[in-house]
Amino acid sequence: MALLEVKNLKKSFGGIQAVNDCSFKIEDGCIYGLIGPNGSGKTTIFNLITGFYKEDSGDIFFRGERINGLKPYQRTERGIGRTFQLVRVFRKMKVLDNLLVPPHLEKLDKETRLQKAIDLLKFVELERLKDELAENLSFGQQRLLEFAIVLMQDPDLILLDEPTSGVNPALIKKMCDNIKQLCKEGKTFLIIEHNIPAIMDTCGTVIVLDYGRKIAEGSGADIAKDERVIEAYLGAGAEVHK
Ligand SMILES: Nc1ncnc2c1ncn2[C@@H]1O[C@H](COP(=O)(O)OP(=O)(O)O)[C@@H](O)[C@H]1O
Ligand SMILES: [Mg+2]
Repeated sequence: MALLEVKNLKKSFGGIQAVNDCSFKIEDGCIYGLIGPNGSGKTTIFNLITGFYKEDSGDIFFRGERINGLKPYQRTERGIGRTFQLVRVFRKMKVLDNLLVPPHLEKLDKETRLQKAIDLLKFVELERLKDELAENLSFGQQRLLEFAIVLMQDPDLILLDEPTSGVNPALIKKMCDNIKQLCKEGKTFLIIEHNIPAIMDTCGTVIVLDYGRKIAEGSGADIAKDERVIEAYLGAGAEVHK
């Protein structure tokens, strides 16, 4: 059974068909990329999977159970975590405190939570900044902080919306290494990205959208050769290999 399955998903806004009959499966323990031109429906798919938007039609299954209609927090509790295209952290709070906010961490006792937060800050190499206000971090560091906040909730499936945009190359490498490390530990990722070399390097399978429709799915090497993908997105002569 796939970890996540979306079937014939549709969502329109007024006259715009943002997601148009989209179907795909995400298998446990793998890293998937979701690419496509601006406005092709990538973020809308994340909003549908996480319950921020309600689909017009179609089904979403997580571990075989239909999750349509569940509230965002209920989907988080089931094991779906996400980051946002525009970073969302608590800017006026200290870095460490940002990790202690998510409400369903109440199950853990205070000491365990604190230790977990410190361990995650070490993992994303922000531990030395733990007492800084989040707003004093660079944009790339804020993306890493948001990533750590998501990991506090121990999600099985992690949706990342453009995790490398606005991030310097050293932190991009850090982010990609972190994702690969977490995959080895059993986490599953679906990543929206425009950084094609990062996608090719990190993702086993790439799903390509155009005008809300899935136009291709396959390994990075396969989609790089796909005529429809080249026409819609990559463009002739695009730099797709490192
Ligand atoms: N909340 C919204 N209200 C109206 N239109 C929206 C909304 N969210 C997305 N759209 C439209 O849906 C289309 C897909 O957007 P989006 O999913 O953000 O694309 P992507 O993430 O691939 O750039 C775009 O035409 C966008 O303008
Ligand atoms: Mg988007």
